[in-house]
Amino acid sequence: MSEGTLTAPASNGPAPGTDGAARILIVDDEAAIRESLETLLTLEGYAVDAAESGEQGLERIAEQPFDLVLLDLALPGRNGMEILAKIRERHAQLPVIMITAFGTVGNVVDAIRGGAQNFVQKPWDNEKLLADIRAAIGRYRAEEENLQLKRALRQRYSFPNIVGKSEAMLKIFDLVAQVAPTRSTVLIQGESGTGKELIAKALHANSPRKDKPFVPVNTGAMPTDLLESTLFGHVKGAFTSAIAAKKGLFEVANGGTLFLDEIGTMGMDTQAKILRVLQDRRFMHLGGVQEIQVDVRIIAATNVDLRQLVREGKFREDLFYRLNVIAIELPPLRGRREDIPLLASHFLKRFSEENGLPARSFTPDAMRALVDYEWPGNVRELENVVERGVVLSSGTTIGADLLPGHLTGASYSTSLLEHNPDASLFDIIEDIERRIIMDKLERSNWNQTEAAEAFRIPLSTLNQKIKRLNIEIRKRGRE
Ligand SMILES: Nc1ncnc2c1ncn2[C@@H]1O[C@H](COP(=O)(O)OP(=O)(O)OP(=O)(O)O)[C@@H](O)[C@H]1O
Ligand SMILES: [Mg+2]
Repeated sequence: MSEGTLTAPASNGPAPGTDGAARILIVDDEAAIRESLETLLTLEGYAVDAAESGEQGLERIAEQPFDLVLLDLALPGRNGMEILAKIRERHAQLPVIMITAFGTVGNVVDAIRGGAQNFVQKPWDNEKLLADIRAAIGRYRAEEENLQLKRALRQRYSFPNIVGKSEAMLKIFDLVAQVAPTRSTVLIQGESGTGKELIAKALHANSPRKDKPFVPVNTGAMPTDLLESTLFGHVKGAFTSAIAAKKGLFEVANGGTLFLDEIGTMGMDTQAKILRVLQDRRFMHLGGVQEIQVDVRIIAATNVDLRQLVREGKFREDLFYRLNVIAIELPPLRGRREDIPLLASHFLKRFSEENGLPARSFTPDAMRALVDYEWPGNVRELENVVERGVVLSSGTTIGADLLPGHLTGASYSTSLLEHNPDASLFDIIEDIERRIIMDKLERSNWNQTEAAEAFRIPLSTLNQKIKRLNIEIRKRGRE
C-alpha cells in the first residue's frame, strides 16, 4: 500500500478483459472433446485456449485472464471438483461450467455447490451450451465492469492515511468519494476513536475547498457563551471582557469547511443559531447588528445517537434533519475485525519510522490477541497499543507479552465473579489463572514445553499448576 492512496483489496491476478473477444479456457483430458469444443467456440468468435489437465488449467488461469472456464469433472489426477475449489480461491467470480458424463447427477449437485455456474452433460447440445456461455460471460463482465468503475472512482480520490478493506469501510470510502466534491452537510456518527475526524478531513481534502481552511471546533468542550463567541465572533464591548472585536470561526472557515465535533452536547440556543447559518449562510457577531454572509461547508460529528437526543428533546429536530443530509456511520472496530491486521501494520510502519527504528512485525500470537480484542476505544486504542509495542520492543518482532495485560487477559475478566458474586478472592484468582493457562495451552496446541516457554516459567512449575488447577490436557491436534 502506498501512503496517501486508498487501500483497495488486492485484485486476484489479471483482470478479465472487458473488451475484445471473450476468452474461454477448456480443461479436458480427452483430445476429441477439446478439439470439438475449440472448433465450436472459435467459430462463435471466442478466443479459446485448452489445457489437458487440471494443473495445466490452473497455470493458464494464473498466466492470463479468462472470462469463462469449461471444466471436465472427471479429470485424471486432481479431479474437476478440486480444480474448481482452487479456481474459486483466487477467482471468486470467474464463471465455470462443468462438463460431466451423462447420468452423474450427484456429482453435478456437488459441482454447483462447489461454485460452478452451470454444467453441461456429454453429449451436449451446441445451441444450449452456447446460450449458457453467453449468459454466464454477460453476467460476469457486467459485474467486473461495475467493480472496475468502483475501483477507478476510489483511485481518483486520495484518502491520506485512511486504512481499511472491510466491506463496511469500502462502502464508506465510496460514499466519501461521492459526497466530498459537493457542498452537502455531512453528519458523521460513530463511537469514540472510530475515525470521525479523519473522515471529515478526507471530505474536505477531496473537495474543491481543499485549499481553504479546515476548521475543527470541539463544540462539546466549551461553555455556551465562549462557544458562541468562538463560532460567531463578537464586536468590541459585546460583553465585559470583549475589549476588541474578534472574528468567529465561521469567518475563519469562509470558503472552506467547519467541522463541528461532538455536536450532541451543544446547547439549545447555540443549536438555533447554527440552524440559522445552515439555512441562510448568514450570521451576526455577538453584540453586532450587521449580517455577515459566509460560504462554509458544515461537517458535524457525534459519538452519541442524535436521534435519541431528538426524542429526549435535547437536540432540535430541524437541526438534526439539516445536518443529516448525508449520514456516514462509522462502524466500531470490533465490527470490522478484518481491518485490524491492516491497521496494525499501518501503525507499526508509522511508529517505527517516526522513532527511526527498523521495521517491526507482530508475532502470530500477538496478532491473534489484537484481532480477538473488543477495542472499546476503537482505532485510537489500537494506535496506542501499537505505539506502546513499538517503544517497548527491542527486537524486530512484537510478542503478546508486549501487549497490555487487558488485551491478552481480556477473556479472563471477572466472569466467575459475575456468575457467583460471593466467590472468594482465592477462587477468582484460581479461575483466572486456569483460563490463562488453558488459553496458552490451546494456542500452543497443548504442547506444555512450548506453553511453559511462552510463560517464561519452568516446565515443572507449569505442570504443578496444571495439576493443582485440574486442567485436563487435550490431545494434540497438530505436530
Ligand atoms: N481507518 C483508519 N485508518 C488509519 N487511521 C485511523 C483510521 N481510523 C482512525 N484512525 C486513527 O485513529 C485515531 C482516532 O481517529 P479520530 O480522531 O478520527 O476518531 P474520532 O472518531 O474523531 O474519535 P473521538 O470520538 O474520540 O473524537 C486517529 O489518530 C486516526 O488517525
Ligand atoms: Mg474526534
